[in-house]
Amino acid sequence: MSVDLSVNFTGVRFENPFLLSSAPPTESEANILRAFEAGWGGVVTKTIGLHPVVNVRGPKTKFLRSEIESTGISMQKRPGTALHSSWNWELISDKTLDWWAPRISRIKKAHPAKILVASIMAGSGSDTELAHWQTLARVCQEEGADALELNLSCPHMDRQDMGSNIGRDRELVSVVAQVVRDVARIPVWAKLTPSTTDIVLEAKAAFLGGADAISSSNTFTSLPLVDPETLEFEVNVDGLVSTGGLGGPAILPLSLAKVAQMTCAFPDRSFSGIGGIASFAHALNYFLLGCGTVQVCTAAMLDRAVGPNVIKALIRDMTEFLEKRADRGWKSLEDFRGLSRERIVPQSRIARPGASEYHGGHDSGEGYADPAELHVRAE
Ligand SMILES: Cc1cc2nc3c(=O)[nH]c(=O)nc-3n(C[C@H](O)[C@H](O)[C@H](O)COP(=O)(O)O)c2cc1C
Repeated sequence: MSVDLSVNFTGVRFENPFLLSSAPPTESEANILRAFEAGWGGVVTKTIGLHPVVNVRGPKTKFLRSEIESTGISMQKRPGTALHSSWNWELISDKTLDWWAPRISRIKKAHPAKILVASIMAGSGSDTELAHWQTLARVCQEEGADALELNLSCPHMDRQDMGSNIGRDRELVSVVAQVVRDVARIPVWAKLTPSTTDIVLEAKAAFLGGADAISSSNTFTSLPLVDPETLEFEVNVDGLVSTGGLGGPAILPLSLAKVAQMTCAFPDRSFSGIGGIASFAHALNYFLLGCGTVQVCTAAMLDRAVGPNVIKALIRDMTEFLEKRADRGWKSLEDFRGLSRERIVPQSRIARPGASEYHGGHDSGEGYADPAELHVRAE
């Protein structure tokens, strides 16, 4: 029995469920063409805005490595270390919409079967700013983008009406999703920030505004470490630093918890999982929680800029995974998507030793609600 890696996600057919996320691997036409040739099913462009940005002096991304035999974690390159995470304070694309427009159309003409998602970002503080979202959406879809991803999650924007500052405000999430929905003929994905208390509420707001899918997670708000010798931050410009975003292996379990909260609350909705994926074993976690596609950044950055070896292994290992389970009748992602979701339950439902019972921190007895019920109501 032959396996089928293709997926239909928000009405769009991907030849495989593996995408490069919006980041340096998708910042140029050359990179995106290389990515498609390497085998990625789709890419999300580096976020496109209306105002060109100027990045800080010096490196915009660094990689934290932990020592195997000790407790050391540092950005310094040294032997005997393993990747811990990526840290970045890069802003959105420094190229204009006029620069991107002809390239979107050229890339699509060269690879009509590959999926190009345009990541867009504008402000939300006035009608003019909201109209910018519509301009970006219209131009990208006219040039042939297959879907739009709204960047509501960049963690290092000074502007209070942009990036993760929108993602933290449920009303703004809904409003932005709706203004884009009003002009979009293609699917709209909302990329949410993980840096909120209850991401289910922001996901609900995005769906109410008309989003077709949620992408999660963007990077987690974080600071570089201080060098204990010099007392300087490991990344700084003239001694100064600001918060940036953490990606890579360290955020895999964190992002899974965020994604699980949403996929359990909205089992029939579409989710694109991101965070710490470097292999099929990592991606599988997101699929088992219900995601229909996954996106990769840090692992691709470290593999010849667009991840040719990463995508080769993802395709090979997913094929092998399905072939091994042919006896169960599994042929495609739909045969195992969401299988682990029902295993995530309130703590009070986990077995305890012996016959003792736990009532979710409440006394048992008449008058107290069932702890499982309390959990459902809180959602
Ligand atoms: C250097 C760098 C730049 C990024 N730029 C963007 C961006 O422009 N838009 C966006 O939505 N996400 C951006 N991201 C976030 C990634 O798309 C992704 O959500 C995050 O890195 C988590 O995935 P990972 O663990 O595979 O790195 C960036 C990440 C990095 C490391």
